[in-house]
Amino acid sequence: MINLYSDTQTQPTEGMRRAIATADVADEQRGADPTTNRLQGRVAELLGHEAALFLPSGTMCNQISLRLHARPGGDELILDRTAHPIIAEAGGPAWNAGLMIHALDGDRGVFSADQLRAAVRPASRYFPRSRVVSVEQTTNMGGGRVWPLEAVRAVLAAARAHDLRTHLDGARLMNAVVASGVSAAEYAGAFDTAWIDFTKGLGAPVGAVLCASRELIDEAWRWKQQMGGAFRQSGIVAAGCLYALDHHVERLAEDHENARVLAQGLAELGCEVVAPDTNIVIFAPPGGVGESMAETAAGGFVEAMERRGVELSGTPDGRVRAVTHLDADRSAVEDALRAARDVLLA
Ligand SMILES: Cc1ncc(COP(=O)(O)O)c(C=O)c1O
Repeated sequence: MINLYSDTQTQPTEGMRRAIATADVADEQRGADPTTNRLQGRVAELLGHEAALFLPSGTMCNQISLRLHARPGGDELILDRTAHPIIAEAGGPAWNAGLMIHALDGDRGVFSADQLRAAVRPASRYFPRSRVVSVEQTTNMGGGRVWPLEAVRAVLAAARAHDLRTHLDGARLMNAVVASGVSAAEYAGAFDTAWIDFTKGLGAPVGAVLCASRELIDEAWRWKQQMGGAFRQSGIVAAGCLYALDHHVERLAEDHENARVLAQGLAELGCEVVAPDTNIVIFAPPGGVGESMAETAAGGFVEAMERRGVELSGTPDGRVRAVTHLDADRSAVEDALRAARDVLLA
């Protein structure tokens, strides 16, 4: 099987498994796990923040951050319409932070400071209170688009001018860093909360790290405990994350190049392809886009590819998504293109 379903599909490498097997561990809930502490210190420094917290998943990083920034009672979260907390966190912003959603129509997930300013509501007894803005770097459903640093800075300045809290969903921040040459701290340091995921392109089996001020991280600990996200001997998994930082960052450039080759091949086969900045290729096979994911699937492309051993996924707007990663090398991409040629030109 060639698995282009997502960059979450990787197997830990032999080297990562060795690092996991030999990790020093102790009770993380008591702050005693040396490997987890090392990981937290390293990611805080990488992202330019004072403190950090190891969490089981990126979803929990988003949800705890929103809980830190907002309270039930009419607060509003401003973010792109395709952002993960809207489409794939089970309505968590409403449940965990009582947030209303103010969705923006960005360009492939990137919105402007003007759009943000226009969305902020004046103070009034009638309106929800604009409270927090969230940026997704890179944009998942926007096809792995990198937010340019100037766009990030403009949004942060607009947010500050309106006294909004700021949050960075950095599930694929390191892809943006490798693609752009901008450091993680430059992208993430000025947000109130920012995190990176280790189970995407970095190829670890478990874990994400949330960064913020010491004060916010102390408060985040409370929600981590409440949500059941505290660990015991978590050095076992933190070791995989440390290994990923040492061995799997620069190599993301290979995933980006493989995505570019895949996109070019699909375009040559008549697909309407969004040129990827990083490792996510979103495309519509010739014959048009369905009204929904189910309809695209009904159109048969995803199933036909699966029958030929290539796993893909759909987007909420009815297109197809292919994601390159550690376990999908150039020959896998070439095999996937051969399968697509069979399906489309048969
Ligand atoms: C942009 C984005 N944010 C958040 C998440 C959630 O991360 P996790 O799967 O670690 O909960 C994902 C996962 O696909 C994502 O793509």
